[in-house]
Amino acid sequence: MTGNAVFKAIVDEAEVYKYYSDGEWRKSSSGKSVPIINPTTRKPQYKVQACTQEEVNQVMEAATSAQKSWAKTPLWKRAELLHKAAAILKEHKAPIADFLVKEIAKPAKDAVTEVVRSGDLISYTAEEGVRILGEGKFLVSDSFPGNERSKYCLTSKIPLGVVLAIPPFNYPVNLAVSKIAPALIAGNALVLKPPTQGAVAALHMVHSFHLAGFPKGLISCITGKGSEIGDFLTMHPLVKCISFTGGDTGAAISKKAGMIPLQMELGGKDACIVLEDADLDLVAANIIKGGFSYSGQRCTAVKVVLVMVSVADALVEKVNTKVEKLTVGPPEEDCDITPVVSESSANFIEGLVVDAKQKGATFCQEYKREGNLIWPLLLDHVRPDMRIAWEEPFGPVLPVIRINSVEEGIHHCNASNFGLQGCVFTRDINKAIMISDAMETGTVQINSAPARGPDHFPFQGLKDSGIGSQGITNSINMMTKIKSTVINLPSPSYTMG
Ligand code: G3P
Repeated sequence: MTGNAVFKAIVDEAEVYKYYSDGEWRKSSSGKSVPIINPTTRKPQYKVQACTQEEVNQVMEAATSAQKSWAKTPLWKRAELLHKAAAILKEHKAPIADFLVKEIAKPAKDAVTEVVRSGDLISYTAEEGVRILGEGKFLVSDSFPGNERSKYCLTSKIPLGVVLAIPPFNYPVNLAVSKIAPALIAGNALVLKPPTQGAVAALHMVHSFHLAGFPKGLISCITGKGSEIGDFLTMHPLVKCISFTGGDTGAAISKKAGMIPLQMELGGKDACIVLEDADLDLVAANIIKGGFSYSGQRCTAVKVVLVMVSVADALVEKVNTKVEKLTVGPPEEDCDITPVVSESSANFIEGLVVDAKQKGATFCQEYKREGNLIWPLLLDHVRPDMRIAWEEPFGPVLPVIRINSVEEGIHHCNASNFGLQGCVFTRDINKAIMISDAMETGTVQINSAPARGPDHFPFQGLKDSGIGSQGITNSINMMTKIKSTVINLPSPSYTMG
């Protein structure tokens, strides 16, 4: 089941995956485990340890102590270890990708891409960290009114302590390393709480850091039930920063967390605004890629199309032609549309579809569901009174709203509580820039679907979509604090001879 001999250490005799604490793979004293349900078979596939609050305490204490010497480890050595972990991770891309296929039904090729992209992210972070953490600022006092040149101020970036990373199920490896690597290069310790679906892939990714030889206790991975350890982790006094990606839980965490920096990405209702002069073939291709890849389970998925009524028929026809060609089935066969992550998720999506049906949306395809597998569906003539106009399905179901003016499209986009990304399609760059300025979202893509990557680009949401900004440089900066040392020079009467 481990898929590779190097991973044998991380599973116990009862096939329960161990958690990682103080440099060792351990069984929880709870004697309990949490099952991971394969979204395709809907049967238990793996089990992980149900850790206790006491085990959280032990992890936090080990992390706090390990961080102190890690902060004194030369930057180039920290970078060297990260490069090593990246290489080990990429070397084991096949077995780790296989876990992503089984745990979260990620299509096989996308699963490999996620692991490779994660290795690249770690290496890039090591390089970027060496550059930006290797620099500080030097200020002189007489640049401020009323001051003589009697003080020199030196600033540098120092770590925060223990960073808690909580990634979501849809990118359990990539969105974990996007938090782990910046935290470590900046001299922090890192505690990872992976999502239950995706935990086994995440544990194997953590094993790459173990094999790379990071100091004991510096990186840990704790698994278990949110009800038992969730609040305990996020409110733990030894946690000095939280980086979270996910849903509504993020808002609850931000209310309960202490006076510590928070980095949050909490979803979006990413709008795709299509103008009359748009290249409709390009739009259709991007709607398919943006709306249906990984069955719509991406925060950056296109989640509503706002198209000018004069080109709506032509666009819908082009999109429908492409929807028909999407393959539907198991992730092992690398199908385009695979089962959504859980039964409750499939039920939620179905609820949005039923609501749209009752309120008169046009179904471009027949609605079809088998277990967690939902066939791709384009809903035309959606109106603002339908839930799907506002809520994110996180599934392969995409609403189209026909608009009579660009202003109407911008208004719909800005009326959403979310503000993650958006996109606009037009051949007129001036209009595109003006629309981008008017859209209340963290990023606007011109003539392409929303996307987080490349992973060094800034990535942030406005309104309920998040706090702070991600992307490699921003994450490193966010996980540090500025420290100043001021050299006070003697009075002008001081003689050097
Ligand atoms: O769903 C989270 C978001 O980070 C997706 O990333 O790169 O697929 O746009 P990406």
